[in-house]
Amino acid sequence: MSLVNQLNDYINAAFSGLWVQTVEPEEAERELVEQARRQHWRLIVWDVARGLKFPLNASTTVPELADPLAVLRALPTLAPTATSDSGASQGEQTTLLVLPNFHRFLNSAEIVQNLFEQLITGKQRRVFIVVLSPVVQIPLELEHSFVIVEHAMPTQEQLGAIATDLLVDHPDGLPKDRAWHALLEAAAGLTRAEAEGAFALSLARHDALRPEVIWDLKAQTLRKQNLLTLHRGQENFASLGGLASLKDFCHRALQPGRSVKPRGALLLSPPGCGKSAFCRALGNETGRPVLTLDIGALMGGLVGDTERNVRQALKIADAMSPCILFVDEIEKGLSGVGGNGDSGVSTRLFGTLLTWLADHQTDVFFIGTANDISRLPPEFTRAERLDALFFVDLPGSAERRLIWDMYRRQYDIAANQPIPNDADWTGAEIKSCCRLSALLDVSLTEAASNVVPVAQTAAEAVTKLRQWASGRCLSADRTGIYRKEENCKTRRKISSKPSAN
Ligand SMILES: Nc1ncnc2c1ncn2[C@@H]1O[C@H](COP(=O)(O)OP(=O)(O)OP(=O)(O)O)[C@@H](O)[C@H]1O
Ligand SMILES: [Mg+2]
Repeated sequence: MSLVNQLNDYINAAFSGLWVQTVEPEEAERELVEQARRQHWRLIVWDVARGLKFPLNASTTVPELADPLAVLRALPTLAPTATSDSGASQGEQTTLLVLPNFHRFLNSAEIVQNLFEQLITGKQRRVFIVVLSPVVQIPLELEHSFVIVEHAMPTQEQLGAIATDLLVDHPDGLPKDRAWHALLEAAAGLTRAEAEGAFALSLARHDALRPEVIWDLKAQTLRKQNLLTLHRGQENFASLGGLASLKDFCHRALQPGRSVKPRGALLLSPPGCGKSAFCRALGNETGRPVLTLDIGALMGGLVGDTERNVRQALKIADAMSPCILFVDEIEKGLSGVGGNGDSGVSTRLFGTLLTWLADHQTDVFFIGTANDISRLPPEFTRAERLDALFFVDLPGSAERRLIWDMYRRQYDIAANQPIPNDADWTGAEIKSCCRLSALLDVSLTEAASNVVPVAQTAAEAVTKLRQWASGRCLSADRTGIYRKEENCKTRRKISSKPSAN
């Protein structure tokens, strides 16, 4: 729902405190001014730099009123109550005091108390206080007096309107049909100001609106915000041997035009089995951008910042729908859940993520990876939360053959070279053996002496993981549920056979 529609409902229901969470306060203010004009509300804006402003009265300003307490105290005179016989409509009797970035002043006891009283009397007097802030930081005393309203990221239509406005001087520059759609897709996830900047840059450089320019700028913007990284690579499923069932599942679930929106999947496996590579290839394979959310990087900031960052990242992902949201090594970011070592930051972050997973209506496919299920909170893997939990085991012999072929070709290694004994090797180990052979100009067998498989170095962890996954996870290689016994039996048969080469 749009910001003004939400506000309208709350104002009609006489909620006197409205906390608008927005990263674009100027835009929120502009929307409010327009709405106030339509509804005949009285509108007063105060911020510490500009003082008091009446945007509907030829932008009258009172810059000397720089004290927030004085503004609150002056409110009864600024918004006089209309008498019942004045003939004024309800709209005309409504006053909005808009306070951009007012959260900065809420650590003063006087301001909190004054605000509290204004919010109580405001109900009868129809005086509404609207705080515009990027964070929700409401003092305990005021928590019940404010409702939170989210200022959504711009919709495709709004982005389209921004582009059209810029095109008035470029009448031939209006892209048609698919090109128009591609342009709006590229701009999705940008704020209005960012989108306007990106369109203007494209027009300045190319005299046309080019999606590549917008994608580049979006990737840069996301990098700067440190919330998400955007990946649009060339990798695809053909560069990964095996994982047939996982590939098939994602292909089906992410088919465009499905009436049921997919939620996501979690991939569990020992290191080096291709989880991260799979997630990166998934984007190109399904024609969706991949947004990587680095939980570890988000956790470093101040308490409160982390949650805000995650919320903002999820909001951007929603705006970029359809897309893929990738969280690599999820257990590392969430390992503090339930503990109190980090003042509960990871618990709250996890809560935010879980709520979003359960509630989001957008076409954002979540894909997470983990090596250690014991460090992952159990709520995460509960049925319904995600569409599937896959176990990617060490590749079987047929899969290993495919991987050898792939990397022998990539590293220009003669096809008649014998393959070393590769029982229980991962894809990463096969790749590393081929790379070493090409790098050191030695045979694969010689190169293999430098490879120490994870199945040996972390044998216990691998066994534990397989045990946990058995009967609980889907197999990434073959259709159905993963069973440790079956996999290990075939594996034993394979490794007791002499190598075909
Ligand atoms: N099945 C496979 N086919 C082709 N290459 C593979 C396969 N499995 C792994 N690799 C290669 O091995 C390297 C490491 O893989 P990747 O980083 O995806 O593993 P991972 O499962 O994410 O490991 P970790 O748990 O340590 O993060 C990548 O370059 C990847 O391409
Ligand atoms: Mg990985």
